[in-house]
Amino acid sequence: MNGKTALITGISGQDGSYLTELLLSKGYEVHGIVRQTSSLIANTSRLDGVYQDPHEPERRLFLHKGDVTDAGMLVNLVRDIRPDEIYNLASQSHVQVSFDLPEYTANVTALGAIRLLEAVRASGVDTRIYQASSSEMFGPAAPPQDETTAFHPRSPYGVAKLYAHWATVNYRESYGMFAVSGIAFNHESPRRGETFVTRKITRAAARIAAGIEKRVYLGNLEAVRDWGYAPEYAEAMWLMLQHDEPVDYVLATGRAATVRDFAEAAFAHAGLDWRDHVEHDERYERPAEVPELVGDAAKIGREIGWRAEVGWDRLARIMVDADLAALADRG
Ligand code: NAP
Ligand code: GDD
Repeated sequence: MNGKTALITGISGQDGSYLTELLLSKGYEVHGIVRQTSSLIANTSRLDGVYQDPHEPERRLFLHKGDVTDAGMLVNLVRDIRPDEIYNLASQSHVQVSFDLPEYTANVTALGAIRLLEAVRASGVDTRIYQASSSEMFGPAAPPQDETTAFHPRSPYGVAKLYAHWATVNYRESYGMFAVSGIAFNHESPRRGETFVTRKITRAAARIAAGIEKRVYLGNLEAVRDWGYAPEYAEAMWLMLQHDEPVDYVLATGRAATVRDFAEAAFAHAGLDWRDHVEHDERYERPAEVPELVGDAAKIGREIGWRAEVGWDRLARIMVDADLAALADRG
């Protein structure tokens, strides 16, 4: 035990699960907000490895039913837990979905952040806040993008993230809160949702290699992304809240690859030629695309010492291996 308490919104997501493991390993008491669904008490499969039964006397992981669209719930929870650190990871995080559900995305991703900031103010708790900002806020800006690059979001998701980002800056400047944004470029892992392009590709490569499927349909193969490894980004979030000063940082690997490059590497690692299995479907094209996101994370390297070690090609191998292993386990 290190005597510190953290609250994570979005604890059931990819990043939330890695951050939970990291904070538990550092001796934190960890609280997370989970959503109730019609068929499940909560979607907690990514937390299976660290889940603790409520009857466990030494328990350090606590899951609370809630939603960032419910302001009263947030105030009560922050007042009850009195966390030292809050990580706001809750979001409708899929860019393409945000074009279909723009108002919902704004409610969760933009207003969710301000509800949480207000909950901290209303409860009077002295806490440090991490906001999960996104490279999607840069839109078509020329790479490499860094903390000085002008924002130009190109999706309802990007617009919502930009609101949350500026709200975080504003609460820092208005109320002196230790509130910071990590402007994270794409980061992936075997726990990545199956409709994001990397996982869609690695899962398909594994299933095709196993003879379960024959092909996968993708949209724009020319988009360039800076794909890093999610557990390393969870470490950066934690480091930013341990820093002396509240400062926003870009989190990125600095390496570029196209969707085509990623598909080629993933299929090759599964012993396949991507050209035999990838087909185009325009339904996966976006109304406005972000063509090229490649980050320059020199500032956090200089000031905090964080650097991404795993690049997109190693990441592709990690993810294909995990998807192949999951199929083998299923028998
Ligand atoms: P993710 O896997 O999609 O997880 C999103 C989390 O938010 C899930 O736990 C989800 O709960 C929760 N959530 C959604 N709506 C909610 C609501 N109304 N109330 C409470 N919780 C809600 O996303 P991720 O990849 O871990 O990303 C974490 C954060 O970083 C997100 O804010 C994302 O936008 C941002 N970000 C991600 C990346 C990236 O490349 N991964 C890059 C930049 C920024 P359910 O499990 O119930 O759906
Ligand atoms: N999802 C998806 N599915 N994307 C595809 C497909 C497909 O079939 N085919 C091509 N793409 C292209 C998209 O057009 C986009 O250019 C790129 O692959 C990456 O798409 P996603 O994996 O959906 O990620 P994203 O870059 O749009 O958004 C992710 O990264 C952001 C940070 O830059 C999400 O994690 C966001 O939450 C995050 O903020």
